[in-house]
Amino acid sequence: MEQKLQSYFNNIASYFKKSKSHSIGIDLGGNNLKIVELQKKGGKIKLKNYALVKMEKDLSRRDLRYFSGQIVSKILADMSISKKDISIAIPSYSSLMTLLEVSGQSREEIESEIEYEASKYIPVDLSEVVFDWQIIESVSMLKKVGSNEKENLDQKTDSPALKKSKVLLISVMKNISSEFQKSFQDNNLSIESIEVDCFSIQRALLGKEKKNYLILDIGGKVTNIIGIYKGQILFNRNIDLAGVKITDLIAKSLNVAKERAEKLKINQGFEFDSEIVVKNILEPVFDSIIEEAQKNLKEFEEFKEESLDKIILSGGTAKVRGAKDYIQDKMKVEVVYGNPWSKVEYPKKIEKKILNNSPFFGVAVGLALIGLEE
Ligand SMILES: Nc1ncnc2c1ncn2[C@@H]1O[C@H](COP(=O)(O)OP(=O)(O)OP(=O)(O)O)[C@@H](O)[C@H]1O
Ligand SMILES: [Mg+2]
Repeated sequence: MEQKLQSYFNNIASYFKKSKSHSIGIDLGGNNLKIVELQKKGGKIKLKNYALVKMEKDLSRRDLRYFSGQIVSKILADMSISKKDISIAIPSYSSLMTLLEVSGQSREEIESEIEYEASKYIPVDLSEVVFDWQIIESVSMLKKVGSNEKENLDQKTDSPALKKSKVLLISVMKNISSEFQKSFQDNNLSIESIEVDCFSIQRALLGKEKKNYLILDIGGKVTNIIGIYKGQILFNRNIDLAGVKITDLIAKSLNVAKERAEKLKINQGFEFDSEIVVKNILEPVFDSIIEEAQKNLKEFEEFKEESLDKIILSGGTAKVRGAKDYIQDKMKVEVVYGNPWSKVEYPKKIEKKILNNSPFFGVAVGLALIGLEE
């Protein structure tokens, strides 16, 4: 249990962290590295530096961890950044999230219940994982249980079960974080914070409203489907279907080189009318993503399609022209682009550029915000 104090999941343990005034967040994506440097001055969070860099090689997931220190060290040198403490994210495909129901009434009771329950849900020896948890405030559920319980209570005042809570259990294999750590150490760097990437996206894209959202982070290799229930993460699922597969499909279907397929994808998307119809190739891909999102929504009794307030888009592939409208038509819920820069001050003259690239920066900005926000 000692491991838990290492705050692998900062959103949960962030209140133990000292506040700081300077931070660097790096998102080591499968396609692009994103780096964001922030500085806090006079209570304001300011953008100091940022970059979006194409990954030189197509690395396997494991190699990405093995070479993370080397890659980060190079980008810091290229940008003449001397800070060596960096916040990075563990991709959510390397984590496991499970929703459990517990009956403990106090934090201590819940904690011991979870320690007992965890072994049922985590498919490996508990000594090999780091895990943490948070209570999902499920008001509707509590109300339902509460009113039934009240009837019971009237008859039997000593009823022991007052309420049940739903808890999100998050676990990460220790070797995943230690591989990052070792690579950083070997390159004279250190990891200031490490957390599962969906928490970084949540920090960057969501305000204080406790609403229900679906965040679709459609990147290069992976699409993350993040369910936010009353402002809290309820689930995170990932599928290996995103930008790279789309390009491959276009190349194959139209019998063109990948470079040409990538250009067609970016220039045409759903919108462009020409003899080459990219739209027909995009539709089934986006349909699969939408189907997966709907399937997940149905799984959660407290969280249904009808109760969704908004769908928030993130990730480079969310920039596909017309994707926003396509998803909105199919899901019948308002779809917006997330703005990771909303908590950050930046020079007006770079606004257009920065907002245009904002789908790429959710994770990196979220990481850089750790410890800077109140
Ligand atoms: N303007 C654009 N229109 C459509 N797709 C785009 C555009 N710009 C970039 N992309 C696609 O975005 C993808 C990269 O997005 P992103 O940087 O979010 O991925 P990543 O974080 O590196 O990957 P992952 O999250 O899967 O590990 C690439 O497949 C690229 O083709
Ligand atoms: Mg990504």
